[in-house]
Amino acid sequence: MAAAGSAVGLGNIWKFPYIAGESGGGAFLIIYLLCVIVFGLPLLVTEFMIGKRSGKSAYGAFRQLSGNNRWQWLGWLSMLTAFIIMGFYFVVTGWCFNYLVEAIRHTFHGQDAAALNAYFDGFVGNIPRVLLYSVVPVVLTASVLWFDVNKGIEKLSKILMPLLLIMMLLMAGRVLMLDGSNVGMQFFFRIDFSQITPYVVLEAMGQCFFSLSIGMGALITYGSYMPRYQSVPAASVQVAVLDTLVAVLAGLIIFPAVFAFGFNPAEGPELAFVVLPAILEKMSFAWLSGVLFFGLLCIAAVTSTISLMEIVVAFFCEATAETRHPLNRHKSVLLVSAIVVLMIALCVVANLFDFYDKVTSCIMMPLGALGMSIFVGWGLSRNGDQQPQFNAKGIKRPVVALYLLSIRWIVPIAILLIFLYNIGLI
Ligand code: TRP
Repeated sequence: MAAAGSAVGLGNIWKFPYIAGESGGGAFLIIYLLCVIVFGLPLLVTEFMIGKRSGKSAYGAFRQLSGNNRWQWLGWLSMLTAFIIMGFYFVVTGWCFNYLVEAIRHTFHGQDAAALNAYFDGFVGNIPRVLLYSVVPVVLTASVLWFDVNKGIEKLSKILMPLLLIMMLLMAGRVLMLDGSNVGMQFFFRIDFSQITPYVVLEAMGQCFFSLSIGMGALITYGSYMPRYQSVPAASVQVAVLDTLVAVLAGLIIFPAVFAFGFNPAEGPELAFVVLPAILEKMSFAWLSGVLFFGLLCIAAVTSTISLMEIVVAFFCEATAETRHPLNRHKSVLLVSAIVVLMIALCVVANLFDFYDKVTSCIMMPLGALGMSIFVGWGLSRNGDQQPQFNAKGIKRPVVALYLLSIRWIVPIAILLIFLYNIGLI
């Protein structure tokens, strides 16, 4: 459940619809679903397994399992990726907080598509305001880690996240009753093969990594907390299915509304932020719906920032433990927050939003995934370690064989091919 909570976040509700909208709707959806099966499932299994077997986070896991330092770069890559993701994830979380405040003030009452677009442009053009709103979730996240109340937040989110899901179902129901919603349904479900380019495939792969939180070692840490009896394949399937359902549900809400209200599906990162207020205004109890939805969205975003920041805090503590200047938890939280604020400032002031996003999703996470698949598929087996430990009773031999085939051949070759196609070498 915790891993599903980490996976479900802004990636599903904000990023998935906007990337799908830019990349041709249905064509993107089908490639995305393929990516979840081809990359998502084997890599979820891989990361959980590395964590479960080593009992360590990304910093110590590779050394522990391989017995040497040759794979240590994967741990460092994971930390670096988490920092860059935070650099823009906090900015979007800040947008959510800003929209929550506006929902409370009922600013969007009676506004049409043009006004909502103009509002968004005005807001992101106001750099001090965007910075202020990005730092709020940093402080919140750091406080949760400082006071070690993560467990409490996790319990709270177990009640609130299903509420977000119910809210989204209600919104999907409302949207489907709008005039012209069928155009959006067609856009989202009709596959236009001419839209499929190497870049769309790269984007789908990147979105799959980002949304499932794979390729950066985050789930290694979660795996290290798994009880012995827990089945790795079952947990992986649950995370993949739940995360994908939420993404598709977000598409089902956004796209029919895009066409019914006259927005542009290829609007870009602002898509969810201009379309959702328009939908919420159409709900019964519009004010309450808006406040509830954006409130829950902020909480969903902060549960993801908590786990992102926790990865780096734990990494710093572990990495400095054997040095002369070990960082304790509190110092580590302060240091990480300071670096994150710098990353955010750089993102907003130097306009690096797209760069942060693309470099992590489309390069760093696939690279991490490539490294981990080679580590498990080839590195470990050289130590005579042939069998993956699924810790699942009655798991069938063909499933193990299929996993090994994926992680040794299919995953690394597919990632390489997608890279080569995109830099034009093929
Ligand atoms: N998967 C999260 C989302 O969809 C974002 C994310 C990427 C993440 N990597 C992570 C969250 C690592 C926690 C840990 O919003």
